[in-house]
Amino acid sequence: MSNSSSVHFFDAVVVGAGAAGLFCAALAGQRGLKVLLVDHSEKIAEKIRISGGGRANFTNRDLDVRAPQRHFIGDNPNFCRSALSRYAPQQFIDLVHKHGIAYHEKHKGQLFCDGSSQQIIDMLLAECEAGSVTRWQPCKLGKIVFSAAGDGAAGAGSYRIDSTRGPVETPRLVIATGGLSIPQIGASDFGYRLAEQFGLRVVAPRPALVPLTFGGEAWAPYAELAGLALPVRIETGAKKEKMAFLEDLLFTHRGLSGPAVLQISSYWKPGSPLTLDFAPGVDVAEALGEAKLRSKKRIANELAALVPSRLADAWVGQDPALQRPVNEAADKALAALAERIARWQITPSGTEGYKKAEVTAGGVDTRDLSSQTMESKQPGLYFIGEVVDVTGWLGGYNFQWAWASAHACATAL
Ligand code: FDA
Repeated sequence: MSNSSSVHFFDAVVVGAGAAGLFCAALAGQRGLKVLLVDHSEKIAEKIRISGGGRANFTNRDLDVRAPQRHFIGDNPNFCRSALSRYAPQQFIDLVHKHGIAYHEKHKGQLFCDGSSQQIIDMLLAECEAGSVTRWQPCKLGKIVFSAAGDGAAGAGSYRIDSTRGPVETPRLVIATGGLSIPQIGASDFGYRLAEQFGLRVVAPRPALVPLTFGGEAWAPYAELAGLALPVRIETGAKKEKMAFLEDLLFTHRGLSGPAVLQISSYWKPGSPLTLDFAPGVDVAEALGEAKLRSKKRIANELAALVPSRLADAWVGQDPALQRPVNEAADKALAALAERIARWQITPSGTEGYKKAEVTAGGVDTRDLSSQTMESKQPGLYFIGEVVDVTGWLGGYNFQWAWASAHACATAL
């Protein structure tokens, strides 16, 4: 840390110049606060840059602000409702319009830049500029100490922060350091450690929106399907906890990926199975039964009318009783095949971890935060964005949470 003794005073310090931090700093600055935005990385907003395949899926039009908990996961799924209803997708879309950024809707309400994600980063930087935000980057933070205000003093107290650019003092400290995913571009556990330093609870972080893996031997028969993509219905959980998605699946060398698997991964509990329907909306048993009455083609060929032929070959190839024309197949064998196409059960051995996860589920426990302001039980200490135990579905929901939580915080600072 620098041994410069001159202390820099700011009305608010925001740690983490990612989606939530940039937006919060900009809004707070525009409200007249003297704001410092600090990030330990050299590059700005790396996750925005790589998001949405380089085009940033910056929000989702389908988010129902009356029931946002439908698209978000966390120990208290209602926590996000207040912030999301006070800063709806349309408000961010209006900002994107104001900056002349062209965009398009791709799938299920997901909005992407026509050009590149850099346009969203430039927009946020311009908004910071409009709020005269001071940005220190790269800058590492050291010890953070809180001093309660003395009798009669204004505010609850102040934070003294050691940094590589000298000591800083502020009454309002906003943590926007994100989650643990993609450590190679600056992710850190800073936010969780700071929460614990001040006695706040943290829901154990885990990778989410992440590909799922399957043990070596058990996966061997399916590894040859790597690269195959198809629409499926995927399901996990029992009874009340059951969750299902109708999305595309991708076979990989190590397991399963694609939007269907990323979505379900956020709900999957280690040890529990997934159930996949490879021909959603099709009655496979009926179709094969009908084929038996009229066709002399091989079973794999008949099945290939219902699912991709690579999958049909692989599934039929596992059972000698199915290596024959469909009219010669036993009813029982056809019924078993139909069942394995419509209700294939497989238990993942794990996930691809933080290296491949789009987000981190868990985080600062919402029981210790105000849903109105994002202030924690520790006075003057705020948490916004992915560091909080609020995780969105794939499709722009995580950025919308970053914008909305930043807005709730900035208007309360
Ligand atoms: P974010 O991670 O954006 O920013 C955290 C910042 O804190 C970083 O700049 C980091 O350097 C800094 N930091 C960390 N530790 C620090 C420390 N100790 N000191 C100082 N600074 C520190 N979401 C979505 O809605 N649509 C999409 O298209 C995508 N696509 C996507 C693709 C990929 C590959 C990934 C990995 C993720 C996505 N996401 C997404 C998720 C989305 O990127 C994510 O939820 C938001 O960026 C979270 O915003 P935050 O500001 O909370 O954290």
